[in-house]
Amino acid sequence: MEFAEVVGIRRSIRFFDPDRAVEREKIQKILEAMRLGSCAMNAHWLRAIVVYRDDLAPETFEALKLPVAGVVMELAPVHIYCYGDLSVIQNDHGKQPKLLIDMGALAPSHGWTHRFVDEFVWPMLLDPMSKSPQYPIAMAFDNGGCATQGLLMAYEEGLGACWTAFNIPVAKEAFGVPDHWVPHYVLNLGYPLESREAGGQRPRPPFEDLYFEGRVGNPFRRDEKVVEELKRRKMIQASAPFPNRQQELRDLARRLGLPE
Ligand SMILES: Cc1cc2nc3c(=O)[nH]c(=O)nc-3n(C[C@H](O)[C@H](O)[C@H](O)COP(=O)(O)O)c2cc1C
Repeated sequence: MEFAEVVGIRRSIRFFDPDRAVEREKIQKILEAMRLGSCAMNAHWLRAIVVYRDDLAPETFEALKLPVAGVVMELAPVHIYCYGDLSVIQNDHGKQPKLLIDMGALAPSHGWTHRFVDEFVWPMLLDPMSKSPQYPIAMAFDNGGCATQGLLMAYEEGLGACWTAFNIPVAKEAFGVPDHWVPHYVLNLGYPLESREAGGQRPRPPFEDLYFEGRVGNPFRRDEKVVEELKRRKMIQASAPFPNRQQELRDLARRLGLPE
């Protein structure tokens, strides 16, 4: 699938075929896509634990589910729990930027030398940043980007997915999560039982309310020609609600024995 179409067809899928396993190789491809995401200073804070629903003890699974996520987790055969490892920067101690210099990614033309890392980047940026209260928030930005690459890969592989919250203390205990890992969300994965369109693209705030040009308050005006091109390339697709969606939801619920 073209990248634009992968972006376009992605929407949170909440009805999975509960009995159709996800191939391990597809899970690996999702993790590979996460690993290739961009991170400040190549720090790579994202950690993920792949959990197979059917391997969980029933009482553990029950405790992991939250009211906003329970049915999704029950239907998805694979759950990828995502965390951020707060120890990365202090353990690395500036080695990653030096590696980027040695690999020719960061260039002397841009001021990058080992000395610059030792005298400025480590003591003035990385060390204080990793000790500041904003550190977990800053790290979450990078992790969201990496995790989203994995999310998109799931759709490229014909799967559906939905992020959900989970019971953090129960997961910590059940999966042996270290104290220095900050919880994010769990990616529920499986083969969609609902239609590929899943009722259409979900509503978003108006484009011009979100993005600006030059100055806040000066909206970045959409060019309708671009919108038309993206429609042709299936990135911008028909939006919800679809007229038959409520019927589809009832049919799915009946098929799965869920309340209508
Ligand atoms: C970080 C994050 C957490 C989310 N948590 C939940 C959740 O707990 N339960 C749920 O049903 N959907 C959850 N979602 C899915 C959003 O509700 C979803 O993105 C929203 O419905 C917009 O639609 P779309 O993803 O289909 O485009 C989460 C999404 C993100 C990115």
